[in-house]
Amino acid sequence: MLRSLVILSQDVHRLFGGVVPEIASRQHLTGIVPAVQAALDEAGVTLHDLDAIAVTHAPGLVGALLVGTSYAKALGFAIGVPVVPVHHLEGHLFATLLEQPDATPPFTALLVSGGHTLLLDVPAWGTYHLLGQTRDDAAGEAFDKVAKLLGLPYPGGRPLEALARTSDTGVYRFGKPMVRTNAKPGDDDYFDLSFSGLKTAVLLKVRDAEASGTLDEHRASIAHAFQDAVIGTLTDKVERAVRMFNRKRIVLGGGVACNLALQDSMQQRFATRSAHVFAPSPRLATDNAAMIAAAGLFRFAAGERAAPSLTARSTLPLPGMLRYAVATERPRLAQSTLADSA
Ligand code: KG4
Ligand code: ZN
Repeated sequence: MLRSLVILSQDVHRLFGGVVPEIASRQHLTGIVPAVQAALDEAGVTLHDLDAIAVTHAPGLVGALLVGTSYAKALGFAIGVPVVPVHHLEGHLFATLLEQPDATPPFTALLVSGGHTLLLDVPAWGTYHLLGQTRDDAAGEAFDKVAKLLGLPYPGGRPLEALARTSDTGVYRFGKPMVRTNAKPGDDDYFDLSFSGLKTAVLLKVRDAEASGTLDEHRASIAHAFQDAVIGTLTDKVERAVRMFNRKRIVLGGGVACNLALQDSMQQRFATRSAHVFAPSPRLATDNAAMIAAAGLFRFAAGERAAPSLTARSTLPLPGMLRYAVATERPRLAQSTLADSA
């Protein structure tokens, strides 16, 4: 049950057009104690009511993660409760469950955030079959970069979606990246994704429009066409995964998952296949502590506890993640280089 959710946004990064790691760490330092107190107050409990403390230790910006892990370990020691380490992406997988109790495995999962884009088959919590991932930019990163090209503020996903809504696809159309209609299961590009080529295509169109003095007039149409291309690719890849494993549930996670055009596209595509699409509400789609607590509860019940040596890691594969080898239909262990970027 979700008893409280406190999010401290670091608006200062807007000034720089991206996250400045040093500033992020400092803001974590000053924000963590009041944020925890506010969360306890909102839930109507005190520190002494807690059974365990879940903390995300990886992957991400080490400075910010270190503040959280150090604080969690110190607090756990002080009040005598165990600390449970949680992988950030596992948190995103659990986010929807907080509001929609049926968002449970087995399901196809699409994780689309600022740092990651992963397509997974999830037969059970803790067992994650990696089908595909981005080969370059994450979906959210592509939204942020294209938003910047269009003169929108950071982070650009939400403003870009709002701008795209003001236009129909008109003059502009971009091809869906990495979608070959004759691709077969087992082909490298069957599930993988890529957004950097699309980003370059947008850049060229923006430059052309600037040169002809028509950018203002076409900004919304470019945004719409870019968003269509990203959503088209994501929906096609999810459909391939749903078909292969015959899943009846699809769970979206990560900041991009609150994009309503993406949610609509998924709902429409799967309405006839009678697969249910679960998407988190915006407050649970973007980074938050409640999703870390939800995943932490699962790990806590499984008996996992942090060692005193727990530390922050900038990269770490999702625990329980196997690379699904489509050709042999047998999952094999993920290598540490897979899906472990921050
Ligand atoms: O999951 P998240 O909060 O942080 C990471 O773990 O990265 O995701 C943030 C990303 C940003 O790239 C942001 O632009 C994107 O999610 N985002 C959106 C929308 N809202 C946030 N992208 C597209 N449409 C949105 N409505
Ligand atoms: Zn995230």
